[in-house]
Amino acid sequence: MPKLKVLKAQNPADTGRLSADVVSELMHAQPNCLLGLATGSTPLPLYRELVLRYQQGSLDFSKVRSVNLDEYVGLPADDPQSYRYFMQKNLFQHINMDPRNARIPDGMAPDLTAECDQYEAQIAAWDGVDLQVLGIGLNGHIGFNEPAPIFTCRTHVTNLTESTRQANQRFFPDSEHVPHQAITMGVGTIMDARKILLICAGTKKAEILEKAFFSPVDPMVPASVLQFHQNVTVVADEGALAIIHRKHPDVL
Ligand code: PGA
Repeated sequence: MPKLKVLKAQNPADTGRLSADVVSELMHAQPNCLLGLATGSTPLPLYRELVLRYQQGSLDFSKVRSVNLDEYVGLPADDPQSYRYFMQKNLFQHINMDPRNARIPDGMAPDLTAECDQYEAQIAAWDGVDLQVLGIGLNGHIGFNEPAPIFTCRTHVTNLTESTRQANQRFFPDSEHVPHQAITMGVGTIMDARKILLICAGTKKAEILEKAFFSPVDPMVPASVLQFHQNVTVVADEGALAIIHRKHPDVL
């Protein structure tokens, strides 16, 4: 059985509070921590709660640094579908983080390979990620590490699978506009984080969440690599935990 800390959330606001507790604990212990951040629907309650706690005066982001998991290739920062735009809108513009301390891969970089190398170098220069926030894709991806025959270790350019493009189409005017490529931290980059906070919500994620932690580690289910990480906290709602609850009641 994997060593797994599971925090059960009652609703989206509770998901936000439980996740924000994990982030807040780190920020209080280490005001200049390096947060690994994620986009998508899943972390929105976390960002809402972090903004609230900042507004209430209980969190200070002035020394915090952040690196995001991934970014689409070919979308400029001011494109509303870019992850830079998402982070501005949902978190950065509401808090007192120094913009120079918030890094996201540049999907418009003329030399994408050099951009990936620089991203890794920046993370290393900042002494590694203290806490990496993750969602999980329906196909088991973490960041944009898609199912593949092997794990790709470091930050790289990746081709998005059709299932991921379809899942993300809801944010775009039509399927043609969904980018085909992204820059993503590699599986090794993610595994190097000192702590992982995986957030998961909704019954449609129940099957992949169970598979990730209770099937053999397999690059075709990229999140399964987290079984090898020593410090994983999962915040999930009842829907997402339904299958784990049924098959492995001793874990919850
Ligand atoms: P979602 O995406 O939060 O929008 O479901 C998660 C992911 O694809 O990692």
